[in-house]
Amino acid sequence: MRRMRRLRKPGIREMVAETRLSAKSMIQPIFVDERITEPMAIEAMPGQFRQSLGSLATEAALLEDLGVPAVLLFGLPAIKDEVGSAASDPEGVIQRAIRLIKETTDIVVITDLCLCEYTSHGHCGLVRGDEVLNDETLPLLGEIATSHAEAGADIIAPSGMMDHMVRAIRVALDLEGYTEMPILSYAAKYASTFYGPFREAAESGFAFGDRKGYQMDPANAAEALWEVQLDIEEGADMVMVKPAMPYLDVLRSVKDIFGMPTAAYQVSGEYSMIAAAAERGWLDERAAILESLTSIKRAGADMIITYWAKEFAKGEGRS
Ligand code: PBG
Repeated sequence: MRRMRRLRKPGIREMVAETRLSAKSMIQPIFVDERITEPMAIEAMPGQFRQSLGSLATEAALLEDLGVPAVLLFGLPAIKDEVGSAASDPEGVIQRAIRLIKETTDIVVITDLCLCEYTSHGHCGLVRGDEVLNDETLPLLGEIATSHAEAGADIIAPSGMMDHMVRAIRVALDLEGYTEMPILSYAAKYASTFYGPFREAAESGFAFGDRKGYQMDPANAAEALWEVQLDIEEGADMVMVKPAMPYLDVLRSVKDIFGMPTAAYQVSGEYSMIAAAAERGWLDERAAILESLTSIKRAGADMIITYWAKEFAKGEGRS
């Protein structure tokens, strides 16, 4: 008679594990704030900090030493305006941040490309009245992408969910000679309440409305496949599903159907839920981190963008 428990004994259990985590497939998001001089704690994300331009390179070097291969940069500019001008400024926070990291490390620098941290209204595109404009935003995205490339970024990750953004960015990069710059598209990005803590972290709350007009409806899974297919046709080299844990079904389908390098973003709310419960002693934090990351890997993620990349790398080898 088959007894499933035979393979669950210590040692054997580990040997037959189907899914293994490695820091090598993790990406650490970093918030860089050009107005601060010391790292600043993010209240809604216990254990996470905004970095200053002065502290950033040290943090990146530490991650590199720990074996984390890549960072995903978000910038907090000193000045915001209607059109997010600071986003493509060669002396802007992200452009400076890229150069600082590249001067000291070989870590892969992925840049989040979106207007929402740079616009005074906080939307991911230009606005007219209450409308977020799609086509008018595209040339700006191309300019921002080129400025990131000039500063030395390794991968451009557009997250604004504008239709045809990937094509606009690909064309702009190619025209400037950056034909080999990879694009990691936030292809299936849902209008999720789990981005809540990020709004504090990146100061990207919006002045009116919501993002439901451009981000996906959580009710839809088939639509995610359309989103991903369109982005691949437009030139995405890697695709992303975001958030991760509430959308593991989508992640599985995207990986199975397209076979593309696929990233999942374990977002701020996913982080803070576990961190907050752990602070209260309601969850074992390390075990919860490992189980959540394992579920994302098991569902098909080749890469996981997670606020725990550093923490995971520190304890790699321990279980
Ligand atoms: C910007 C952006 C957001 C996140 C990543 N890029 C916020 C949003 O779309 O509202 C969320 C990341 C997180 O919650 O960790 N477009």
